[in-house]
Amino acid sequence: MVSSAARTFDLVIAANRLPVDRSVSPDGTVTWRTSPGGLVTAMESVMHEREAAWVGWAGFPGEAPDPFDDGLLRLHPVGLTAEDVTDFYEGFSNDTLWPLYHDVIVPPTYHRSWWHAYRRVNEKFTDAVAEVAAEGATVWVHDYQLQLVPAMLRDRRPDLRIGWFNHIPFPPVELFAQLPWRAMLLRGLLGADFLGFQRPDDARNFLRGCRSVLGASVKGDVVTWQGADDGRLGAGPRVARAGSVPISIDAEGFRKLADSPGVRARATEIRASLGDPEVVLLGVDRLDYTKGIRHRLRAIEELLADGEIAPPQVTFVQVATPSRERVEAYRTLREQIEATVGRINGDFSHLGDTAVHYLHQSYGREEMAALFKVADVMLVTPLRDGMNLVAKEYVTARHDGGGALVLSEFTGAAEEMRSAYLCNPHDIAGLKETILRAIRDDPALKRRRMASLRRRVRRHDVQTWAEAFLTALDAAPGKPAVRKEV
Ligand code: ADP
Ligand code: G6P
Repeated sequence: MVSSAARTFDLVIAANRLPVDRSVSPDGTVTWRTSPGGLVTAMESVMHEREAAWVGWAGFPGEAPDPFDDGLLRLHPVGLTAEDVTDFYEGFSNDTLWPLYHDVIVPPTYHRSWWHAYRRVNEKFTDAVAEVAAEGATVWVHDYQLQLVPAMLRDRRPDLRIGWFNHIPFPPVELFAQLPWRAMLLRGLLGADFLGFQRPDDARNFLRGCRSVLGASVKGDVVTWQGADDGRLGAGPRVARAGSVPISIDAEGFRKLADSPGVRARATEIRASLGDPEVVLLGVDRLDYTKGIRHRLRAIEELLADGEIAPPQVTFVQVATPSRERVEAYRTLREQIEATVGRINGDFSHLGDTAVHYLHQSYGREEMAALFKVADVMLVTPLRDGMNLVAKEYVTARHDGGGALVLSEFTGAAEEMRSAYLCNPHDIAGLKETILRAIRDDPALKRRRMASLRRRVRRHDVQTWAEAFLTALDAAPGKPAVRKEV
């Protein structure tokens, strides 16, 4: 990576995080690591080797490092102060919007000072995008952290074509209406020409929100807002289109990685180090209350107590990436999960035979692919998830035809991956039955299910998604979308 001076681009990505995070070790050595989460996984494979700019935060409080290049991609850091990190990132983004948009699994917190920080930081991102966007450029804004950027940017740069994609669910208006700043958020979003969502229901929730909160008129997928004469953000009249464009993974790239000799060898090694069990169950998530890890552990604990599964024949591996560790709800969740894992192992493990292997760590892509190859049953049980790329990665890695996917109905992925073992994670009895079916079903049936899932992901990969989004953005508004849904 080399440092370089300001230049403008025809395509600009704005996301809260850059694809890489800077970390400084105690001896002062600076390293850049891949940032966590599905947004970065997907966008990195789309943007790799494109001539474009990516505006985002480098993951630490303080002054922004200088812009630098990663191949053809210009990375343009935005600086967040320690207060911005607390109030904008941990506060409004991850303790107000995140829980509200995920079915209020934990109660959202509403603080006016966090809202001020959210506006302030959205302005910072707007400034940075306005600086690097060429005349008439396409700007692709991402996710819930930057919902005011579309309108802020339109006020500043009416020449731009602006799209926004929501990686997480968009809540029904009955929940969204709780938000004290609901009208301003929608006005912020309506600065975009096209708004992309994971599921048709998310797009519908947004359109219903515009009608009910703003009094905008909605015809099909087009929303027309007459504007307001209050001189505040997004006061001008707007027409925008909203549609569903479900995100995916770089299926071919991930399949190749999973098939590489290094990953195969590592998979064999992992299986041996687990004691060559007959069945490996696997969970891989950021340590987040949306992911249903507690419900999953409850089902596993009961299956062990019922004698339906037992180590060393069956073992469960839970990989939980550290996430948002200073937010109270995440700290509580970690304590609960670690106490539960400790209790389960105390009750059901024997010397040398562990019931639950729990890893609170991040790994490289190769290690993730090797873990997926080892998993006979993958447990993806979120209580709510915009998409869940882990489900798509798993079926892609199991190119050998083995494996089985247990998938929550409350994920965006479940809309597409109908041949998975679908489950309702709130129904512990049902979840246990589904896990047992995924373990015990006829291998030929399981292979057919996996083949159909793999086909689906291969045909709807991340490149198809990006192309569909950019095509819809290009056509909106006024002209019919070339392709509304992948
Ligand atoms: P989210 O975006 O909510 O974290 P997704 O399932 O959509 O959920 O995406 C998670 C991404 O992070 C996937 O690409 C997955 O492989 C990766 N990932 C999850 N856990 C780990 C981990 N412990 N180490 C490295 N990568 C991980
Ligand atoms: C999800 C969100 C992303 C976010 C990621 C990791 O994928 O949609 O916007 O970047 O989680 O969360 P973090 O708070 O670490 O950025």
